[in-house]
Formats: sequence, structure tokens, C-alpha cells
Amino acid sequence: MNKKSKARRPRKNRSAKPSRTAIAIVGLGYVGLPLALQFARKGVSVIGLDIDQVKVEALNRGESYIKHVPASEIGAHVKSGRFVASSDFSRVEQVEAVIICVPTPLNRYREPDISYILNTGKAIAPHLSRGTLVVLESTTYPGTTEQELKETLESGSTLVAGRDFHLAFSPEREDPGNKNSRVGEIPKIVGGYTPRCTEKAIALYQRAIKTLVPVSSCRVAEASKLLENIFRSVNIALVNELKVVYDAMGIDIWEVIAAAKTKPFGFMPFYPGPGLGGHCIPIDPFYLTWKAREFGQHTRFIELAGEINTAMPHYVVAKAIDALNAQGKAVKGARVLIVGLAYKPDVDDARESPSFVLMDLLQGKGAKVAYHDPYVPVISPTREHSHWAGTRSCRWDRRTISNFDIVVITTAHKCVDHAQLESWARCIVDTRNAILARSRKVWRA
Ligand SMILES: NC(=O)c1ccc[n+]([C@@H]2O[C@H](COP(=O)([O-])OP(=O)(O)OC[C@H]3O[C@@H](n4cnc5c(N)ncnc54)[C@H](O)[C@@H]3O)[C@@H](O)[C@H]2O)c1
Repeated sequence: MNKKSKARRPRKNRSAKPSRTAIAIVGLGYVGLPLALQFARKGVSVIGLDIDQVKVEALNRGESYIKHVPASEIGAHVKSGRFVASSDFSRVEQVEAVIICVPTPLNRYREPDISYILNTGKAIAPHLSRGTLVVLESTTYPGTTEQELKETLESGSTLVAGRDFHLAFSPEREDPGNKNSRVGEIPKIVGGYTPRCTEKAIALYQRAIKTLVPVSSCRVAEASKLLENIFRSVNIALVNELKVVYDAMGIDIWEVIAAAKTKPFGFMPFYPGPGLGGHCIPIDPFYLTWKAREFGQHTRFIELAGEINTAMPHYVVAKAIDALNAQGKAVKGARVLIVGLAYKPDVDDARESPSFVLMDLLQGKGAKVAYHDPYVPVISPTREHSHWAGTRSCRWDRRTISNFDIVVITTAHKCVDHAQLESWARCIVDTRNAILARSRKVWRA
């Protein structure tokens, strides 16, 4: 009797309570916040957990820090009690499921940094109950969920995955800036640690997501997400390479792509640019590169694509130097304006933006560099380009723009009037086919 009650004691307060209907979403960023709101929209109570106290407080006041997430919607869900943000991880005791959406960057040696996932695992493990479902959404290499995360959750909770709690991986397919892309409409892959875990995860997501795609394991789900991102990285590298080759032949890559995409089968257009940006495409493929080494495998396509894509800012700088040279000017001392700091059109996200690399390269050659981006009025601190923090987007008027020796278009936001830019600027290097008029002052790069 004594022995029995002793064995039960540690789990006494952590048994599944029939009243637990809320879910927790850990990491309220570009992925976690839209997902939390999608569940709230469908009537599920969501506790959003984040270590960033500033974000937590802003969300509870009904404020948004992501352009495409309306503050009014956050406010309405906070008011109705469907959504609350918190930094108190003991609230995991109140939920039936925990979805983890924390960052997965590369470290300074360009190796996977899964410390955010493991720290989350450590923070939630002591509060897990029997029957709770834990789903990882952060992009990572195959094996993370059923090895590193599972071990962290088990050792911090004394519960066993697949027996006492459920575990799954379900990659996110958020497409920021695309108005037609809604979280609830995008088919979602789900792979559980056991078939029962998959069932549990499908049952959870069915409450908020229209189409679910079950796969046989967490590893297949993790690998599928990497395939999607590697596919983009490799194809972007291919058109970037063709851009350079066709330019040398006097052929416009944009015209070539427009023609090729009229083929109704077997072709999908990808577009060149000044280099890769964002939180996914420049980073995720290297998660696989690192893991593949453990199996004695090499990811040659991924590394070649990385090499070509990271060479692009240098190609653009070379074009800018040619364009200045044609005006009889040196890059040293030249006034250069970068138009577009966000890594893609119509978003306010400047993470990993190639514009930073261009600004560094041009400044390193003695140019006086400024930028304009209506979505990034001031540069926030970044890990690798911290010296730009606090720099403000320059004014948009004829006098200011015509004062620059050269303008480099790096991101083609719809709200930027490129025809106006063309009439104001002295010389333009266009990496996005934003200027349709072909004139001698416009250089393609
Ligand atoms: N942004 C996208 O479009 C996108 C698309 C698909 C997949 N992903 C993947 O989703 C994951 C999250 O990306 P994101 O863009 O939302 O990142 P983000 O930086 O916008 O947000 C992450 C959030 O997690 C919080 N956080 C960090 N450590 C934490 C911890 N230990 N506990 C609680 N909260 C913590 C941060 O404060 C931040 O609010 C990454 O793996 C990313 O690769 C992102």
C-alpha cells in the first residue's frame, strides 16, 4: 500500500484532468502567433508561452508586432479569453497539447543550433501530464523529435513518450506576405512517434486546419520540410547561375523565365535575386548537410546552391561598380541607396536579408550607404549586422533620391513606386526586375 502510494505521488498532480481543453503554443513569432490565432478563431483556448516578456505584455494589451497579423484580432481573442500570452511555463499543466514553434538558427560555425528546442523541452517537461501531446513545429534535421527532444522531455518529467505522453512533428508552412495563404487552408504534414501519437496530433490539428497529411514517422515529417526548403534553395541557385551566364550573352533572364513559364507542364518558375534571405531558405538546408555527415553522406547539391546564392551580393556589387564607373565615379565616396531591407516583398521581416550583406560590402569599399524600406522604418539589432541597428529608412522624395549616385533595388515592395524611382534616380541597379522601362540608366543584376 505504502509502496503503491509512494510510486504514484510524484505524478499525483499531473494526471490528465478531463477539463483540460486548452492548448499551449511555445514561441509567439512569425509561426507561433498566426497558428495560435487560427486555433483561437476555431474556438480553442490558447495559452501562448514566450520567454520575451515584452512580446507577452504587448500581446496581452492586444498589440501586434507582425505586419500581417492584425492587432484587432489579437485584441478580440484576448478579450474573449480565447488567447492569453504568458511566460509562466507551469501553465503547461493546464493544457492537453503543447506546440513548439521556437527558432532553429545556425551557430557561428554554420551548424544547427537546437538549443531553443531543448530549452523549451526543459521548461515544459516538469509540467507535463499523462496524456499530453507535444508537437514540434520548428524546422530541424531528421531525428530531433524522437531523439533529442524526446530524451529532454523524458528526463525532465519521468514520463515515457508513446506510453505516458504523445509526441509528434508537424512542420509549419507559413508564407508571410502572401495574402492568399491562410494557415488554416495550407495542408499540414503530421508524423507521430507512434501511430497513436499521429492519431492524437491529427485530432488536435483537425480542430483548426482543413487538410492533414499523416506520414509514418517524425523523421519523415522532418525530412519533408527540409526537402521543401532545399528544393527552393537549389532552384533559386539555378536561376541565379543562369542570370549570370545569360547576362554575359546579352540575354535578359527575366524575359527567359516569362517565356519558359508558359509551358503548361514540367516547369515551375523561380526568380533570381541579390542573394537568399529570411529565416528558412538560407539556413534549413544546412541542418541536413550537418546531419548527413553522421551517416557518411555529402549534400553536394545543397552546398553548391549555397555557394552560388551567397556569391550573389558580390555579383550585385560588381554591377554597381560598373554602373558607377560608367558615370566616371568610384565606389569610394559614392552615395548609395539600397531600396528594400526586408528579405521579400510586402513583409517587415529583415532576418538574414541579403541587403545587409550588400550594405556591408559597399560600405567596406568606402561607399556612403543608406536604405529605404517603408516596412522597416528603423533597423532592429541583429546578430551579424549589429552595427546597422538604429539606422533609419531615408525619406522618399525627389530631392533625397536624386541626391544618390546610385540606387540598388533589392526588394520590390508593391507599395514602392518604382516608376517614380526611375524618374528620380540618376542610376539604378535592379536585382528584381522592378523597373520595367529599359533605359541606359537601369542596370540589371
Ligand atoms: N518564419 C517563417 O516563415 C517560417 C516558416 C516555416 C517554418 N519556420 C520555422 O519555425 C520556427 C520558428 O520560426 P519563427 O519565424 O516563428 O521565429 P521567430 O523568431 O519569429 O519566433 C520565435 C519565438 O520564440 C521565442 N522563444 C525563443 N526561445 C524560446 C523558449 N525557450 N521558450 C519560449 N519561447 C522562446 C522568441 O522569443 C520568439 O518570440 C523556426 O524553426 C523556423 O525555421 C519559420
